[in-house]
Amino acid sequence: MSYDLKRETEFRTKAINECIEKYLPEESGLQKVMPEAMNYSVLAGGKRIRPILLREFYLIYTKKNDPKAEPDMRRIEPFICALEMIHTYSLVHDDLPAMDNDLLRRGKPTTHAKYGHANGVLAGDALLNYSVETVTKAFIDEDSLEAESCGDVSIPEWNKRVIRAMRLLYNKAGIYGMIGGQTVDVEKTGKNLNKEELNFIYELKTCALISASILCGAILGGADEKDLAFLENLGSDIGMAFQIRDDILDIEGNELLFGKPIGSDEKNGKSTYVTLYGMESAKHKVEEYTDDAIDILDKLPENTFMKAFVKALAIRNF
Ligand code: IPE
Ligand code: IPE
Ligand code: MG
Ligand code: MG
Ligand code: MG
Repeated sequence: MSYDLKRETEFRTKAINECIEKYLPEESGLQKVMPEAMNYSVLAGGKRIRPILLREFYLIYTKKNDPKAEPDMRRIEPFICALEMIHTYSLVHDDLPAMDNDLLRRGKPTTHAKYGHANGVLAGDALLNYSVETVTKAFIDEDSLEAESCGDVSIPEWNKRVIRAMRLLYNKAGIYGMIGGQTVDVEKTGKNLNKEELNFIYELKTCALISASILCGAILGGADEKDLAFLENLGSDIGMAFQIRDDILDIEGNELLFGKPIGSDEKNGKSTYVTLYGMESAKHKVEEYTDDAIDILDKLPENTFMKAFVKALAIRNF
C-alpha cells in the first residue's frame, strides 16, 4: 500500500492543535480583548509545520539514542506551543500596516483588521511574552509529582536540554534570526537586491525558525553537537524551499487555498526569488533545495514521514 501522507499529516496536526488549545490563555478580565486576539490569531488555522518538525526530530533522536525508549510527548508540549506562538506573532506583526499591510491571513481577516492596529501590535507582543511563560513549563521540578513519570532521561539531564533548546529558540527568533531578517526585509523594500542580500533575508526571516524547530526537537531528544551542525543545514534547505514556494504562490496561488492575498509582494515592491531569477528558475530552486534536504534526511534513521512531508511542501498550494 502507498504511503498515506495526508492521513499521517492530519494525525500529527490534530495532536498539535489539541496541545496548543490546552496552553492558550483564558479569555477573561478587563483586558479580555487581548487573550481573545491572541487566541484568534493562533487558532485561525495554519499548517503547523514548525511544531510538526520539532515533534518529528524529538522522536527521531530519542529513538536514535535508545531504540527501546518510549518518547513522552507531554514533555515537549511547552515547546510545541511556544514555537507556534512565536511564529504566529511574527505573522501578526508582518501583516501590520507598517510592514506588509495585509488584510487576509489563514483565510481570515488579519489580527489588526479584526481588533484594530494597536491591539495588533499588542497581540504580537503578548504572544511572544506568553511563549516564554509557556516554554518554561518544560522544566521539571524534582519535587513535583510529574517528576515521578520523567521516564528514560534523568531530571537534571532533561532540564539541561530544556535550557539549551530555549537559548537556541530565542536566539533564532531574535535579531540574529527572524527579527533580523524582517528588519532587512523592511529596510530593503522597494530596492533591488542582489543574490547575497536576498539569501541573507531568507536565511534569517524564514530559515532561522525552521532550523530552530528541527534543532529544538533534536536537542530535547538528546542529539550531540555533530548532529546539530548537520541539522542546521537541513533547516536552511527546507526554509529556502519554503520561502521561495511562498513567493511563487504570492503570484500564482489561489487566495482561497493560500489563505493570504495574492500579489502582496508586488504591491509592496519586494524583491523575491521570482523577481530576481524569474518564475521558472524560482521553481527550479525549490526543487534543488528540496533535493538537498532529502539527501540530508537520507542519512538519518527511519524518517519516511519527514521525507514525504518535505517533498509535499515543495509543491504545496497553501
Ligand atoms: C508563513 O509561514 C510565513 C513564511 C515564512 C512564508 P507559514 O506558511 O508556515 O504560515 P502558516 O502558519 O501555515 O499560516
Ligand atoms: C514573512 O515573509 C516571514 C516572516 C518571518 C513573518 P512574508 O511576508 O512573505 O510572509 P507572508 O507571505 O506574509 O506569510
Ligand atoms: Mg513580510
Ligand atoms: Mg507578509
Ligand atoms: Mg509571502
